[in-house]
Amino acid sequence: MPANAPLIPVDHLLSVAVDAAKAAGFVLSDYAKSGFNVERKNPINLVTDADHAAEQCIIDVIRRQFPDHGTLAEERGVDAAPSSPYRWIIDPLDGTTNFAHRFPVYAVSIAVECADQLLLGVVYDPTRDELFTGVADRGACCNGQSLAVSNTAALDAALLVTGFAYDIRETRDNNLDHFGRFTLKSQGVRRTGSAALDLCYVAAGRFDGFWEVKLSPWDMAAGVVILKEAGGKVTDLRGDRHSVYQSELVASNGRIHPEMLGVIRDDLRS
Ligand code: IPD
Ligand code: CA
Ligand code: CA
Repeated sequence: MPANAPLIPVDHLLSVAVDAAKAAGFVLSDYAKSGFNVERKNPINLVTDADHAAEQCIIDVIRRQFPDHGTLAEERGVDAAPSSPYRWIIDPLDGTTNFAHRFPVYAVSIAVECADQLLLGVVYDPTRDELFTGVADRGACCNGQSLAVSNTAALDAALLVTGFAYDIRETRDNNLDHFGRFTLKSQGVRRTGSAALDLCYVAAGRFDGFWEVKLSPWDMAAGVVILKEAGGKVTDLRGDRHSVYQSELVASNGRIHPEMLGVIRDDLRS
């Protein structure tokens, strides 16, 4: 961080992130009620006007408080701010395909990074009015209740979740190999369609593990903070240190992590 950069109390950053996530959640709920237009980025990758409106709403809330901060948002990309160490990582609507089909599983995801360190994450599910928050070294909560990962100790007894990227039809590197193997080795594998919620649900003990191979920083940054602060573990597919700027991740309650990595290792070898 530049020596003269002002340090902002994390509570202030958190309260702005929560305000932005809730305001964007109301925007999504309004569009869900009144209707929206859908465009295709490719045959299966959709974007709606609700994505754009929610993103604008988040940027407006952040800019009012922190006009000099950088942002990385899914629909508009990077807005660099060389003079500030702060960067807000934003997915205004994680679960666009669900939203477009009126399947009520989607969320707003906002993380704050300072000098390459993730400080906090906020994920808001407007359908269930669930607000997940995590602050580095201060724990994670859902609607004010402290979160902790599950105690499930074996993959055989675990409920897992995963997702698939929008190039699934175009490449063999599409996660279907891992999906098949985990389905046979666990109690079940779900696909919710929102990576941000997948991570929060591992944090809440609703799932025991999650993996995905082609995510973007905005899909996972907030959820990674929340999961780690709930006692979970996050690595890359080989068990090495994870960064939200790499596309793959394995996330779990920690206890089943070695078994999850073992399954992936077997796939990568075969
Ligand atoms: C998608 C969701 C989904 C994951 C995809 C993401 P979007 O984000 O997080 O669960 O499997 O890889 O792209 O497009 O709904 O914001
Ligand atoms: Ca997303
Ligand atoms: Ca999105």
